[in-house]
Amino acid sequence: MKTLQLTGIGLESLRFADAPEPRPGPRGLLLRIRSASLNFRDLAIARGEYGSFARPLVLGSDALAEVIAIGPEVSRFTPGDRVCPTDTPDWISGPPDEASLRRRLGGPAPGVLQELLCVQESEAVRAPAALSDDEAASLSGAGVTAWQALNPLASLRAGQFVVVQGTGAVSLFTLQLARLAGARVIATSRSRAKLERVRTLGAEHLIDSAQTPEWQREVLRITDGRGADVVVDVLGGAELARSIAAARVGGTIVVLGFLAGPSAQLALPAAITRCLKIVTSGGRSRENFQDFVRAIEAGALRPVIDSVHGFADAQTAFARLGAPDLFGKVVIRIAPRG
Ligand SMILES: NC(=O)c1ccc[n+]([C@@H]2O[C@H](COP(=O)([O-])OP(=O)(O)OC[C@H]3O[C@@H](n4cnc5c(N)ncnc54)[C@H](OP(=O)(O)O)[C@@H]3O)[C@@H](O)[C@H]2O)c1
Repeated sequence: MKTLQLTGIGLESLRFADAPEPRPGPRGLLLRIRSASLNFRDLAIARGEYGSFARPLVLGSDALAEVIAIGPEVSRFTPGDRVCPTDTPDWISGPPDEASLRRRLGGPAPGVLQELLCVQESEAVRAPAALSDDEAASLSGAGVTAWQALNPLASLRAGQFVVVQGTGAVSLFTLQLARLAGARVIATSRSRAKLERVRTLGAEHLIDSAQTPEWQREVLRITDGRGADVVVDVLGGAELARSIAAARVGGTIVVLGFLAGPSAQLALPAAITRCLKIVTSGGRSRENFQDFVRAIEAGALRPVIDSVHGFADAQTAFARLGAPDLFGKVVIRIAPRG
């Protein structure tokens, strides 16, 4: 079977290689990866900017796969089922602990950018039936992260104001899920054109952060001085102080990323006296993925796809992740249906 391996640092070190076909253990599933989608994490690992994982490494954590063989003790799935592998395989439910976060697909564990993959039956969820293979391959990383951020972490309720920053995959899923939950969305972006696109997804208030770098003031104006109930912060760096200023008393800031910088200064008096909940999140549980799938099926949510690439064009797909006009998930078709 064909695998795409990261052999060194940088996208130029991605190489196709043949590997022996894996065999499922007693409770294992042999998966044929139909489509995969990329995350910022994959690019950061490839560039040597995230973790230090042994090479060669098969990248990728998000996929739609078909079960093609099962071990004799498997009871959750049968051959032919469409599944998504869980990207944090040992985190099944409840809060995470040290052991449940250790293994992640695409670093340190082998990822999904290969034709076949064996996982335990506990390490997959049934894909939403109404989504195409490309759409279902787009859910795992950004989608489940957005789901966890709003619920359980922020306990979002209908009518609340949610701020999403930029138009990356996490923010687009957060926007769609917030709308599904009946919340009101304030979206920021440095691109006027992309703001128009998030309007069509249901964002009620748009802030051009290139024109209005002090975007938190605009959030306060929109919310009559009260502040947003939830800010989902993917920027970090100096932007975190703005997120704190944009939140209402008792509001929640879910810190997910650090696109604007890996460290931030926290104004503790402001955070403490305003009783803010500042939480972080890394990894995703199978239980949260299953709840997310149910919400998709009930609400007819469809992931936004930026572009679809063939497996042979994987380099082009990776390069697309850094494009200024990126909007949605970058999908790679690995073994599409005939
Ligand atoms: N904690 C977790 O479990 C978890 C899970 C998934 C992702 N993440 C992290 O969350 C972040 C976002 O991921 P993603 O996949 O949504 O990213 P993405 O698809 O690469 O998009 C990021 C978007 O953010 C905006 N942006 C980028 N750099 C910026 C900057 N310096 N200042 C202001 N805006 C900027 C841009 O939107 P505009 O062009 O519209 O401004 C860009 O399109 C990443 O740091 C990623 O590592 C964390």
